[in-house]
Amino acid sequence: MASERKATLIIEGREPVDFDILSPVHGNDCIDIRTLAAKTGLFTYDSGFMSTASCQSKITFIDGDKGELLYRGYPIEQLAEKCNFLEVAYLLKTGELPNPKQKVEFETIIKKHTMIHEQMARFYQGFRRDAHPMAVMVGVVGALSAFYHEAEDFSDAEHRSISFNRIIAKLPTIVAFAYKYSMGEPFMYPRNDLDYTANFMYMMFGTPCEKYEPNPVLVHALDTIFTLHADHEQNASTSTVRLAGSSGANPYACISAGIGCLWGPAHGGANEACLKMLEQIGDVSRVPEFIKRAKDKNDPFRLMGFGHRVYKNFDPRAKLMQKVCSNVLEELGLENDRLFKLAKELERIALEDEYFVEKKLYPNVDYYSGIVQKALGIPTTMFTCIFALARTVGWMAQWEEMITDSEYKIGRPRQLYVGTPRRDVRALAER
Ligand code: CMC
Repeated sequence: MASERKATLIIEGREPVDFDILSPVHGNDCIDIRTLAAKTGLFTYDSGFMSTASCQSKITFIDGDKGELLYRGYPIEQLAEKCNFLEVAYLLKTGELPNPKQKVEFETIIKKHTMIHEQMARFYQGFRRDAHPMAVMVGVVGALSAFYHEAEDFSDAEHRSISFNRIIAKLPTIVAFAYKYSMGEPFMYPRNDLDYTANFMYMMFGTPCEKYEPNPVLVHALDTIFTLHADHEQNASTSTVRLAGSSGANPYACISAGIGCLWGPAHGGANEACLKMLEQIGDVSRVPEFIKRAKDKNDPFRLMGFGHRVYKNFDPRAKLMQKVCSNVLEELGLENDRLFKLAKELERIALEDEYFVEKKLYPNVDYYSGIVQKALGIPTTMFTCIFALARTVGWMAQWEEMITDSEYKIGRPRQLYVGTPRRDVRALAER
C-alpha cells in the first residue's frame, strides 16, 4: 500500500516535512500523517472526520460518486439477488462467500445459539412497557457480557468466532422479545426448523394461540433489508464500535455502544423519522410546502431519508429498497398505499428541485425502508432495532478486523482546545 509518492508540508519559517501517500485498492489516496505530531508538534483538525481515514479496512467499500457499495468486493446488487443474509454474514465475517457445506455448517451453528439465557429473558421485566425498544436493546445487548463470559480471551480467534456467532444468533431473539414485551404478549421462543429471517418473523408475529407460518415473499423482503443494512464502512455507529473496542472492551458492550449511536435520527433513526415526516406531510398537495421548509436555512426541518455523507450520486441501497417496497406492497395488495404514493411524489419533486440537485441530495436507504417495514407489520419504534439487528454483522466484522490489525492502537483523538485559558480557583467568599 505504501508508495514512493510523498506529500510535502510547508509551514512558513520551518523545514518542509514529507509524508507518504498511501494508495488503496479503491478510493481516495491518503496522506499518512501518523508521524505529524512527532515531526512537527502539530495536530490536524477535522471535526466530523470529513477528510480522515480512521483505519485501514478490507470489509466494505463505497464509491459515493458512482453510487457503488461493495461487501468484500462483491456489489450489493448481486449479493441482494443471489445470497441470503446469513451468507452475507459469513462473507463479512470470513472474507469469502460460503460453499454449500460451509453454508449448512454456519446456519447450523447460528441456529444452535438462538435461545437466550432464561434469566436474560427475565431481565426485560425491569423495563417499563413503554420504553423505546432501542433503549431496551442497549441494555439487553450490553447485558450479554454478564451472561456469556466464558469465551472472553479476545486474542484467541476461536473465542472471537464464538462471540460473533452468538451475537448474530441471539439478536433476532433479543429484538423480538423487546417487541413482545412492549406489546405485553408472551415471548415466542425460537423455532430452529425455520431459517434465520423466517424465525425472526415467527418470534415477532407468532402467538401461542394460533399457528403462524411466515409468508415467503415477506421473509425474502426482510432478508434483503437485512443484507442492505449489514455493513456500511466507517459510519458513526461502526466507528463507535471500533473506538469502544479499541480499549479491549467486551464485544457485547461495544455492540451496545453502536446501538446507542445508531439510534440517532441522523443515522439509523432516520427511517422512523422519515415515516413520521410522511405522516406529517399527509397528502401530495402539501409536498411543495415541505420542500420549501427543507430548503429554508432558518427552519430546522430536513427531508428525512434524503442526503448522505458519502453518496453524492445515488444510494444503491435506496434503489434496491424501492424495489423491495413495491414487491411487498404488491404481495399485500397495498399498491395504492397512501404513504408509498406520497413518498414517490416527494422523491420525484425533490429530485427535480435545484436545491437538492445542486447539493447532490438523493434518497438514502432509509427513505423506503420505513414504508416496507410498516407494511410488514413492524411498528415504527422497532425500525431502528431491525437496522441494528442487521448491522451487528458488520459491527462484529469490523471489531474483529480492528482487534487483529497489526497497527491496532487504542483510539485517542486529540482536540483543538477553545475553552477558558488557565486560571486559578478563588476562595468561595471571593467568587
Ligand atoms: N434535507 C434538506 N437539506 C439537507 C438534507 C436534507 N435531508 N441533507 C443535507 N442537507 C443540506 C444541509 O442543510 C447542507 O446545506 P448547506 O451546505 O447550505 O449548509 C448541505 O445539504 C450538506 O449537509 P450536511 O449536513 O453538511 O451533510 P452531511 O454529510 O454532514 O450529513 C446527513 C449527511 C445524512 C446527516 C444529512 O444529509 C441528513 O441529515 N439527512 C437526513 C437524515 C437521514 O436521512 N439520515 C440517514 C442517513 S443514511 C442511513 C445511515 O447511514 O444511517
